[in-house]
Amino acid sequence: MPPLLHPLRLGGVPVDPPLLLAPMAGQTNHAFRRICREQGGLGLASSELLSARALQFLSSRSRTLDLFDWTPEEGPVAVQIFGADPQEMAEAARRVVEAGAALVDLNMGCWVPKVARQGGGAGLMRDPTRAARVLQAVVEAVEVPVTVKVRAGWDARTGSAVEIARLAADCGVAAVTVHARHAVQGFSGRADWQAITEVVRAIPAVPVIGNGDVTCPAEARGMLLQTGCAGLMIGRAALGAPWIFRQIEHELRTGEPLPGPGLAGRAAVALQQARCLLATTRMPARRAIRELRGQLLHYSLDLPGQTRVREALVRVETPEELDALLAPLTTSRPDPNRPD
Ligand SMILES: Cc1cc2nc3c(=O)[nH]c(=O)nc-3n(C[C@H](O)[C@H](O)[C@H](O)COP(=O)(O)O)c2cc1C
Repeated sequence: MPPLLHPLRLGGVPVDPPLLLAPMAGQTNHAFRRICREQGGLGLASSELLSARALQFLSSRSRTLDLFDWTPEEGPVAVQIFGADPQEMAEAARRVVEAGAALVDLNMGCWVPKVARQGGGAGLMRDPTRAARVLQAVVEAVEVPVTVKVRAGWDARTGSAVEIARLAADCGVAAVTVHARHAVQGFSGRADWQAITEVVRAIPAVPVIGNGDVTCPAEARGMLLQTGCAGLMIGRAALGAPWIFRQIEHELRTGEPLPGPGLAGRAAVALQQARCLLATTRMPARRAIRELRGQLLHYSLDLPGQTRVREALVRVETPEELDALLAPLTTSRPDPNRPD
């Protein structure tokens, strides 16, 4: 079987294996990125998107500042910024690099109206001239590699990924990530990986990272073979399953599947994530717990047909309650219906 995973370098930053954790608002905080790294198989993690406009008005109490949570110990982190103004974006890029970002990722994929209507996120794909000015300003502003994450297009007719990827390549980006859905689709429908193939062909000198609907090693193999992309970015399938990168790497290198952890193992990782978040977050504990609930719900911690843990999790208010709920599960017996 020919090897499918080749180490990547984005500018000077090694990405080995070429498996990336997608930026996900409210999810890819320091604790989750660290857990994904510790589980193995992850080449690069990204912060969630940060508003360049909000960074203009940064005060020491700003919520955006709470999101500056990357540390040198967790390994290189790509920090994602969004906005529509070239100077604001350049300034934001400088700020996140000063704070230790190893790469700056420019968001051209966010479709939510609050972002796209102001011309930022995927809104930039509708305005290639502005997109090029933003890309140029950011690339010139910082020494670290700059990458860009795009959609397949704004819609089937406007702002194609190929057009934006060519502009980005001309501006000197280190990689282009393609989420293979149109912006107007949001998350609906299946990702159409053909959009990734087209970008791979259009910018042969720049690595292309494929993204959209990879949930298991077989799909990872399928995307690499079908599109010829240099790396894969995985989002939702990593939530509550940070071991997915290790599973993909293992199966693509050896041809053998690597089973995920059983209930006790899943609970131990969930507890580790909770404790790490509470120990490192800049958010007030109450808010952190509320965010954690949404993150931990992704771990399937209920036995089939039962919803006890889920129900208790959404009511947890304090770190002590969270520990009391999760710690006993970490010593639970293997479930005969689910392989450990
Ligand atoms: C909860 C959530 C938050 C997201 N936040 C961001 C974000 O901050 N920046 C971004 O570029 N994409 C964001 N995305 C999109 C993902 O990065 C990714 O492109 C998308 O989920 C498709 O990949 P997947 O099928 O592997 O999940 C988000 C997705 C989800 C589910």
